[in-house]
Amino acid sequence: MANWDSIAEKWAEQWNRLRPWQIEERKSFAKRVENSLVLDLGCGHGRDTQFFNELGLTCFGIDFSKGMLGLSKDKGRLVRASVEYVPFRNECFDALWCCSVMRYLGTDGISRSMCEANRVLKQGGLFWLSLEYGSESRTEIKHDVGFTAQLFDEKRIYSIASEKGFRVLETKIFREWRSFLTVLLEKIGHIRP
Ligand SMILES: C[S@@+](CC[C@H](N)C(=O)[O-])C[C@H]1O[C@@H](n2cnc3c(N)ncnc32)[C@H](O)[C@@H]1O
Repeated sequence: MANWDSIAEKWAEQWNRLRPWQIEERKSFAKRVENSLVLDLGCGHGRDTQFFNELGLTCFGIDFSKGMLGLSKDKGRLVRASVEYVPFRNECFDALWCCSVMRYLGTDGISRSMCEANRVLKQGGLFWLSLEYGSESRTEIKHDVGFTAQLFDEKRIYSIASEKGFRVLETKIFREWRSFLTVLLEKIGHIRP
């Protein structure tokens, strides 16, 4: 079983360059949440944290992998922590960003991290996340780096969102050699686990 520390360098090298649709997603999010305090959940080596800070947001990141965080160019705003136990107080962020993390968490981890996302986000705040897309008949995929990833479709996202106090504002599918599902949520209610 792979772990993020052991594949950090390989992963960061492979994913450091964003594709045009990924750049557009980031710019459009930054525009929607202008002047906001943002948390990048599972920030990895901080690629997106840095991108948002350069666009004028104040963005912090958390990740549990020392190896991934160690590759960051701007360590000042990154904290080593799990997305399932976020070390920030209630409702302190205007917006949340979570790229390619939930799919590795498992069902309980997804549930805990969505509760934490709800807790640290202000009412009405936006939460963008990207997942791997898969239809109902296929819920998991084995990746070459050694992880099993969960797949999501719109139905699953609507169900998780409503259970965890969010409203789905937008979903998009980007088809490449794998298909990615991006989701924009709005916090509409407090939930307590
Ligand atoms: C595919 S990488 C994405 C990194 C970053 N979001 C990006 O797009 O560049 C997944 C990241 O999630 C982190 N991760 C996985 N499970 C986590 C957890 N429970 N708490 C915090 N970070 C986690 C890993 O350490 C890894 O850095």
